[in-house]
Amino acid sequence: MRLRRAAACTLLVPSAWAFYLPGTAPQSYEAGEPVPLLLNAVGPRYGEGDTAIVPYDAYDDRIGFCRPAVQKSQTLSLGSALFGDRLVNSDFALRMKENSSCQHLCTAELGEKQLAFLPNLVEAYSHHWLVDGLPAAEMRRTADGDIFYSLGFPVGEVHAPAKETAAKTKEGARAEPHLYNHFQIILEYHPRPKEGVNRVVGVVVWPQSIDSLRGRGAAPECGAQEPLVLRDAASAKKDGPQKVAYTYDVIWRESSTPWATRWDNYLHILSPRIHVLSLINSIIICGFLCFMVAMILLRALNRDITRYNALSSYDLDLDPSSTDIADSVQDDSGWKLVHGEVFRAPKLRMWLCITVGTGAQMAAMCGVTLFFALLGFLSPSNRGALSTVMIVCWTLFGFVAGYVSSRLYLTMKGDAIRKNIAYTALVFPSALYAFLHFLNFFLVALRSAGAVPFGTFLAIGALWFGINVPLTIIGGWIGVKRGPLDVPVRVNQIPRQVPPSPWWLKPLPSALLAGILPFGAGFIEISQIARAVFGAKAYYAFGFLSLAATMVGLTAALTTVLFTYFHLCAEDYRWHWRSFLTGGGSAFYVFLYGLGYWASRLHLPGFANKVLYLGYLALVSGLTFMVTGTVGFAASWAFLRVIYSRIRVD
Ligand SMILES: *[C@@H]1O[C@H](CO)[C@@H](O)[C@H](O)[C@H]1NC(C)=O
Repeated sequence: MRLRRAAACTLLVPSAWAFYLPGTAPQSYEAGEPVPLLLNAVGPRYGEGDTAIVPYDAYDDRIGFCRPAVQKSQTLSLGSALFGDRLVNSDFALRMKENSSCQHLCTAELGEKQLAFLPNLVEAYSHHWLVDGLPAAEMRRTADGDIFYSLGFPVGEVHAPAKETAAKTKEGARAEPHLYNHFQIILEYHPRPKEGVNRVVGVVVWPQSIDSLRGRGAAPECGAQEPLVLRDAASAKKDGPQKVAYTYDVIWRESSTPWATRWDNYLHILSPRIHVLSLINSIIICGFLCFMVAMILLRALNRDITRYNALSSYDLDLDPSSTDIADSVQDDSGWKLVHGEVFRAPKLRMWLCITVGTGAQMAAMCGVTLFFALLGFLSPSNRGALSTVMIVCWTLFGFVAGYVSSRLYLTMKGDAIRKNIAYTALVFPSALYAFLHFLNFFLVALRSAGAVPFGTFLAIGALWFGINVPLTIIGGWIGVKRGPLDVPVRVNQIPRQVPPSPWWLKPLPSALLAGILPFGAGFIEISQIARAVFGAKAYYAFGFLSLAATMVGLTAALTTVLFTYFHLCAEDYRWHWRSFLTGGGSAFYVFLYGLGYWASRLHLPGFANKVLYLGYLALVSGLTFMVTGTVGFAASWAFLRVIYSRIRVD
């Protein structure tokens, strides 16, 4: 229990701080003051049945939900606009501490279009409402009986036809979609008697399906017992549209939960105890592995260095036995033999520099975003803060990309430095931009709310060309001014022959072998994030995430160094691209994990959903590849500098 509380604290401390930052200050209401209820896009409800991944606008005309007379879209941060938040006002009349029952929101007429579309949303989609920045939750029970608040509540439920009727009519019976049209909105408030105000600290909605208009006039009867069954789309042609009254009750309950901890209920869901234990487990395994790797390397290197240095003094003395020693050294490790080759520029050096530069930019972006998250800037009530910070960091760290790319390029004796800087500024961002446009095309085709609005695309384009490109050029220019990196050994005129290496040192097998460890270190967080994303749960365990990211970085660096050492010992000096590939090997497993998750947990309906899932998965694994690849490359570079500066070269 204590462990659980401690874990909850580490989870919550950042979010509690964040509430006192500007923009997320607590909102207080006097009794009777209106409390606005905002609608977000109707999003997929994960965990049951088919799993679509595209959201729809709350007032999409295919849904036919009650629209207010004056429709106002709320201003959103760039990140939340990019990732599918679409907040609109509504006609729900909530007043602080005023209970009401059977309020009539509106009577919607569902025509053929709506009746054809809505059954797909029932059970597979959720309403996402926000009251005072707090998502309307549904109380759900996990498999092990814990109660948790899931984000959003279902649009309806599907009732399988009763067995007898199904048997009687054979194909006539269809599953009955029940639409939820009555909402019991339970709001919790925390009174602050000194100031005479109240704060909203909880929102739960119990939706119900009631046929409140049956046999009556325009006024709905909320006590009705029969469920509201959506009619067949075909019947709308014959009998006209189906009338549905949307109604709601408002119940205010006093709560002792203070405002600062109102997110607890959303956050407890990840079962911190299990989370902590499994993370500690993986840290121990990972630490043990790192220790092993470091020991092997240190011992082998020390032995090698002593022997090489001893050998060169033998050479000077022309000791006849020296040839024997030279032979034996050549047999077991050949990394010194390739000292004239290791810093030879690899094939496609321009592209290597651009890739490493961009990878450094992404790594810096991830690092700073995690840091901000740890400081608590990205509290859950600050919607879209995470993605906004990522976008801003990406833009600003164009500087890093330009600097790393140009210095590396000069070190590799590149002669087209301007081209290098221009490519760094343009190639990867355009590829990403084009890819996002490609995915957006599918969202637009589905008329999804997730489709990125034109304005947002323009804003991103402006950030890119207005800020990122100039910063990349400045970074590149400073890189040129600082000149090439020092390398401890000179490059020979004539390249050596590369002897054939064993199968497991070929680029792909070594990347796959080396990728297992970093993936293993990050696996628990990846599965937690997947569970949060596909389980309508909030994920704010940034403390855990940063720890896991550190472990992944460390393991990626160490395994890559180890493999680079093996490569060089096999007298294969083409380490540049390989170390990037080896470091990024874990991305392959991330992709595989995503495919496995799809196969075992998700049923994506339709072609567009499948393409979108694969597209997002490719983005995530691509980011992993670039970041861990860059870590691997940088670690190998540092390692080679150290070991080659310790040996004596004539
Ligand atoms: C609203 O109704 C609930 C349940 O009937 C009751 O517990 C609560 O005290 C009421 N709240 C107010 C402010 O009257």
